Parts: sequence; structure tokens; C-alpha cells
Amino acid sequence: MAVNGGLPLRDVKKNPWPAWPVWDQNEEKALLEVLHSGVWSYNGPKEMEFDHMFAEFSGVKYAVSAANGTVTLQLALEALGIGYGDEVIIPGLTWQATAASVVDVNAVPILVDVLEDTWCIDPEEVEKAITPRTKAIIPVHLYGSFADMDAIMAIARKYNLYVIEDCAHKHGGEWKGEKAGSIGNIGSFSFQLSKHLTAGEGGILTTNNKELADKLDALRNCGRRPEEEVAEEVDKGAGHYNDEGNFIQSGNYRITEFQAAVLIEGLKRLPEQNKKRDKNAMYLNALLKNIPGVDPIKRDKRESREAYFNFNFRYKKEEFKNLPVEKFRKALAAELGIDVEASYEPLNNCSLYVPLTKPFRYRINEKHWKAINPSRFELPVCERIFREESVCTHHKILLGGKEDMEQIVSAIQKIYDNAEELM
Ligand SMILES: Cc1ncc(COP(=O)(O)O)c(C=O)c1O
Repeated sequence: MAVNGGLPLRDVKKNPWPAWPVWDQNEEKALLEVLHSGVWSYNGPKEMEFDHMFAEFSGVKYAVSAANGTVTLQLALEALGIGYGDEVIIPGLTWQATAASVVDVNAVPILVDVLEDTWCIDPEEVEKAITPRTKAIIPVHLYGSFADMDAIMAIARKYNLYVIEDCAHKHGGEWKGEKAGSIGNIGSFSFQLSKHLTAGEGGILTTNNKELADKLDALRNCGRRPEEEVAEEVDKGAGHYNDEGNFIQSGNYRITEFQAAVLIEGLKRLPEQNKKRDKNAMYLNALLKNIPGVDPIKRDKRESREAYFNFNFRYKKEEFKNLPVEKFRKALAAELGIDVEASYEPLNNCSLYVPLTKPFRYRINEKHWKAINPSRFELPVCERIFREESVCTHHKILLGGKEDMEQIVSAIQKIYDNAEELM
């Protein structure tokens, strides 16, 4: 076994995995264009072009880009008027930003458990968590699975709640023909380096509601009103917007033209890449079914277009002679020369979600302080996934060929056959 000093199945020096991020001379050209133009930021032509492209790609009327996928969540909450005294229901298994954005607007994140087969928020748990203070649900389409949007939207309608889709992992996915980010009131996307559309950092918001789009646009731009609206009023003699045009308090969450330039080129490639990842993941999942103790993540039949993020599966140690999942992950990483990780840490005990370390910001009163303590939530399914079952790999492996998928399966089979040696 490679982890014990033996020969790995893959020699990554001779046979490297596909590189991430993907770029070519188109990005180089576009970046130089921005450089020479001198328009490096602030509602520039690349930003406007990308917003239009992304709105069309996501099947929505409006898309508003911003600095990253954390502030997009915060701006979405603010645009919906969510703040102190409100509760927002989120899954316990997600990146810390989903919760951090809620505490940052002084609302209370209510952590609920996820479904064991998709790792996405459990609609039954959502309904149980609703109180008179609940204002919104943030389903996360985690690792490329789709949250059950039929159930979530039905609950939202029944209790009159907003839905913000956290689509940081789901650019281009479709639920019954509707694009991720077009189903709830607002969709939030990240373009951080690990994401399958990236400019290193960046984010975007999607919506079909003009009023919300205008608010989001103002919120990412120091509270300034949309330029067309201002221009019309200036024409009517209302004066310049910099002085009296601000209509909402906010900060600077803008994206740069360099990011937008890279995103435009990346978005042109994304549909093909999504197709390739999907085809490879389906092939891989079909092969993995033959190995006991490896359960593919469920692909919901209502997902009409898949957009894989990481390639993950569920591990059952009983089938691997009780080999702990940590040892399995290390062995797989050594055979294939890739990183193999656990899922995100459940947010009730997560080293990066620690709101009680900021009393000067969040200790508004004792009731609020207690309410935002993440450890008050019980998340048994999230904990089991994190501690015992999750095996997560980078999406770049899904850009390989058929033989690469077969090699991944061979590596898992090798561990299965030699589990005793690894104990
Ligand atoms: C589910 C989820 N939501 C939000 C974010 C935040 O995005 P960003 O890193 O662009 O701030 C991430 C990033 O990893 C994420 O995975």
C-alpha cells in the first residue's frame, strides 16, 4: 500500500491530474485588455457583461456581482430586511459563511440537521424549527447535491418565509428545469478558487425581483442607487447622486474588472465542464456500486441538470474490516496523489464558526448571546457524516478521462482488498 511506503497506483509526476484552475490565452488577453483600459473597477464594462451573462446562464432577470460568496449572503439577508430579532434556518453541514453571514446581520442562525443521502438540509427538520421569529431559510446545494427545493419552497409558502439559495457549489445545476439560484427569492454564488467557476475570489447574487436587484446593487456599492435611476433624476435636474443619491447605508463590496474578465472566459467553458464532470461522476458512481461499503451520494431524480462540485461518497467501515475513515482517506490520497478530506465540520462544533469569540460585536443582550451559541443545536446526522462517513475529493479529478475514473475505483478496490494491512 502506498501509504505504507509501497508503490502508488498513480505516479502523479508522470501522470498528473487535470489542473485547476483552468485558463488559457483568452484569460491572458482579457486581463491585459483591462490592464490597458485603466478601468479596473466600479461598474466597468466587464462587470456589466458578466452580470448579463450570468443572469442568462442562471435563468434570472438580474445578477449583481460582489466581492465574494460570503458578502453575497450578507447582502441578500440585508436586502430582505433580515436583522436583529429574526431567525434564519440553515443546514448544520455547510461552510461557516452560511452561518457567519446571519450573525453578521445580527440575526440568529438556527442550525438543523441534513439528509444522510444528499447531505443537504432536511425539510422535516426545517419545519420543526420554525417559530414566530423565523424569517428565512438558506438551503445550501452542498457539494453539488440539490437541496429538496419542492419541499423547501412549500414550507416557505406555508409560513411566508424568504428563501436564499446558497449556490456556492452549484453553478449551472437545474431542479426540474429551473436553474440553481432562480428558485428562491435570491441566489448566492461564490467564485473563490476552489469553486468550479472562479476568479480567485468573487461572488454574485441572482434574483427575478427588480426591487431586490436594485437594493442588492446599492448594498454592494456603498448604498448608491442604480446608475440608470440616478441618470434619469439628474436629467430631471435632481443633482448628482454622490451627494444626495445614497438611499441606504452600506459599504464597498464591489468586484474588480480583472475578476469579471476572468469570470467571463470561465463561464464560456463552464457548461462543457459541467457536462464532463457529470458524465464522469455517473460512470464513477456506477462502478463504485460494486464495492461494498462505498455509497454514492444520492442524485435526486428531480435534478434535471447536474453540476458536480467535489466528488464525494459515503464510507461504511464495517465493510472495510472496521478500517477507520481517516485511515481510508489517507490510503486513498497516497494511492492517487490527491487530497482526500472529510466534509465540513458541523457548525455546532466547528473551529471556524465561533461567534462567542466576538462579544464586543454580538453580545447585544444576554438573550441574543445565548441564542447564537452554536453548541445548543443537536446535529446527529451531520456529525455522523463528518466523523464516520464522508470522503471528499477535489472536482478537478472529474475533468479526467474514463481511465482516470477506473483508476479511482481500482484504488478503492485495492484498499478494500488490503484493509487488514492498513489497520
Ligand atoms: C456553501 C458555501 N457558502 C458560502 C461560501 C462563501 O464563499 P466565499 O469563499 O466566496 O466567501 C462558501 C465558500 O467556500 C461555501 O462553500
